Amino acid sequence: MSGRVIELRDIKKSYGNVYALGGVDLWVDEGEVLGLIGDNGAGKSTLIKILAGAVRPTSGEILVRGQPVSGWNAARSREAGIETVFQDRALAVQQSIVRNIFMGNEIANRFGFLDTAREFSEANRLMREIGFTSKVFTPHSIVGQLSGGERQGVAIARSLYKKADLIVLDEPTTALSLTETNKVFHFVRQVRDSGRSILFIGHNIHHVFDIADRFVVLDRGKVALAKKRDELQSAEELIGFMEHVARPDARAKADLGKGGWR
Ligand SMILES: Nc1ncnc2c1ncn2[C@@H]1O[C@H](COP(=O)(O)OP(=O)(O)OP(=O)(O)O)[C@@H](O)[C@H]1O
Ligand SMILES: [Mg+2]
Repeated sequence: MSGRVIELRDIKKSYGNVYALGGVDLWVDEGEVLGLIGDNGAGKSTLIKILAGAVRPTSGEILVRGQPVSGWNAARSREAGIETVFQDRALAVQQSIVRNIFMGNEIANRFGFLDTAREFSEANRLMREIGFTSKVFTPHSIVGQLSGGERQGVAIARSLYKKADLIVLDEPTTALSLTETNKVFHFVRQVRDSGRSILFIGHNIHHVFDIADRFVVLDRGKVALAKKRDELQSAEELIGFMEHVARPDARAKADLGKGGWR
């Protein structure tokens, strides 16, 4: 039995003659937070759209729990327990927390009517499970009244309701203050501690460093670095590397010197 929830092997994706991904190997282990970092245009969104089955790779292999899967698509992705919280397709802000969690997955009673009592208690349970401890808000609270971090919590709770084993968060803290970022981190840790996995995407290392157990740096469609958290001294080490890959002249020198970096 493989501890890998999902594995991508040598995934390539071209748009016309532009390679968005030029052969990427990436996997997510059970119960880990993987931080995927890279500059604008590195291929992060393309990669997670492939994971979600929304975009077909040009070539490459996808394995679910160690088994190769053919005909990968959105339904297969869902069956594999992958739920993605996309950057700007998140929540209906005029609606309540409970409506947002069950949107498109309403719980019906045996007469086919909305079972609001069960949805309410289930929403309560999910909010508790992710560590949403606000005394002010109930599942009936309107999402528009929540802070940015709490909104991410609602999106995470919705993914859990859909039985996610792996939740993919696309830049969940980019627009958030430190306090709000810490709320999101708290939710993410709760989810991880329950044995599920998180793929956390960001282009600011400081937004990712404190939460991830492992890091993959994408650079122009390729994996430029893969490191476990405990192999790194500090966020600065990662930042130094990112600046380094962004400078073609420095990179050329390092390539010549073989291992010049590190
Ligand atoms: N539908 C598309 N058609 C053509 N090119 C595309 C398409 N989607 C992405 N690309 C190109 O693929 C490359 C990777 O884009 P992608 O959106 O995956 O990057 P990203 O790492 O998510 O960037 P950002 O941090 O800005 O979100 C870019 O050069 C982009 O222009
Ligand atoms: Mg993107």
